[in-house]
Amino acid sequence: MAAASRSDALVLFGVTGDLAHKMIFPALYAMVKRGNLKVPIIGVALPKWSLERLHRRVTDSIKRSGGIDNRRALHYLLSLFKYVSGDYKDPNTFKAIKSALGGARRPAHYLAIPPSLFETVIKELGAAKLAAHARVIVEKPFGRDLASAKELNQVARTVFPEDSIFRIDHYLGKEAIMNILYFRFANSFLEPIWNRNYIASVQITLSEDFGVEDRGAFYEGAGCLRDVIENHLFQLVALLAMEPPSDRDFGAVHREKANVFRAMRPLTRDDLVRGQYAGYRKEPGVAKNSDVETFCALRLFIDSWRWAGVPWYLRSGKYLADTATEILVELKAPPQRLFADSAPETGRTNYLRFRLSPNSAIALAARVKLAGKEFVGEQRELYLLEEQPGEGAPYERLLGDAMAGDGALFTREDAVEAAWAVVDPVLKTHHRVRPYRRLSWGPKEADTIIASDGGWHNPGPKEASE
Ligand code: BG6
Repeated sequence: MAAASRSDALVLFGVTGDLAHKMIFPALYAMVKRGNLKVPIIGVALPKWSLERLHRRVTDSIKRSGGIDNRRALHYLLSLFKYVSGDYKDPNTFKAIKSALGGARRPAHYLAIPPSLFETVIKELGAAKLAAHARVIVEKPFGRDLASAKELNQVARTVFPEDSIFRIDHYLGKEAIMNILYFRFANSFLEPIWNRNYIASVQITLSEDFGVEDRGAFYEGAGCLRDVIENHLFQLVALLAMEPPSDRDFGAVHREKANVFRAMRPLTRDDLVRGQYAGYRKEPGVAKNSDVETFCALRLFIDSWRWAGVPWYLRSGKYLADTATEILVELKAPPQRLFADSAPETGRTNYLRFRLSPNSAIALAARVKLAGKEFVGEQRELYLLEEQPGEGAPYERLLGDAMAGDGALFTREDAVEAAWAVVDPVLKTHHRVRPYRRLSWGPKEADTIIASDGGWHNPGPKEASE
């Protein structure tokens, strides 16, 4: 990577939008409080707002996201802002950005805008000569299928070198998820069992007990598979399944993760159950006859030496019974049944459970004997770690890293394309959505694909023992 000098300005496209309000302003405020942000911020958007109006919007965002606990920091943050109003298709907008940048030579351009505008803005940045020594930060989704992802990457690459493109998947900036990489490779006890010989199946659930809220129109163009599975959940699979990187160079981590996506077997329609919550079609921005899935459960195989034959089950949905993200790695039963209950016919065998949200914990479930004459026992969880969120928010971390030129926690072109290649066959060819009740665990058909592996583990109370 070229010498990673810090960006000397942040150009925020979509500054009047939702993402800026919900995620980016609070992250910028946190960066200012830590003394990590001292460069001008050029907000860009279509509405003809005054700078005062933008200041009010930023202030409102900070109030809502946790409150103003440092007025000086807030004033300082507001003083960094400039505002450029203009159409992204109009070269004059980019002239105005250039003049607002003044002496800044290494801006970071953050595209917090609908994906349909990415190409336009990237091309205009190139044409206006705003790309040299600059970085570009893009939000998922990177394309909507393999072909569009390739096209987007190709456009981005004609304007920016790969190490100046920062593709945000905010899951990679979460502490509990960074810990998966650490936990796997900072310990030696896992490696001997971390393969098809000892692991029976892996399942991941990302459940949310709310609907699409005010994002109906966005969701109609995406659906659950594109929104969270192909990116957030696939990133978790990659961290769990990757081979040990040869060294600490993050290029090596990127390579190993991309290899996991390459080894994934492309999905077929029977690998997938799509669901839709009751009332989704009445949400604003949603078609009356929509076939877009708000729930998706799938079975996946990684055709590698380590994982041959091990099923990976992924599930996510809106309006499910709880809001939580958990991974369950289930081990095979002992080879011999010395005790009547050592390989239970119902219930789980030993497992490792990674709870990622709302709190984070790693639990190892093992059987222990109950007091008494009989050799019978129960499965209990040993807690390895438990933390309340309190951590720095992912956006603060990722924005700071991108502006410092550190690409470790971002996704790379080859990995993005390899991941799309896995889901591409089922984006159009799939079974129709199955309806499900709000606050349930999704359509019952989703149980069928995992029935032979003990069923879904529904994330629930923190200490789940049998
Ligand atoms: C976003 C999706 O990328 O991730 C949302 O667009 C989803 O639909 C969100 O709710 C989940 O992220 P988190 O951090 O709340 O688990």
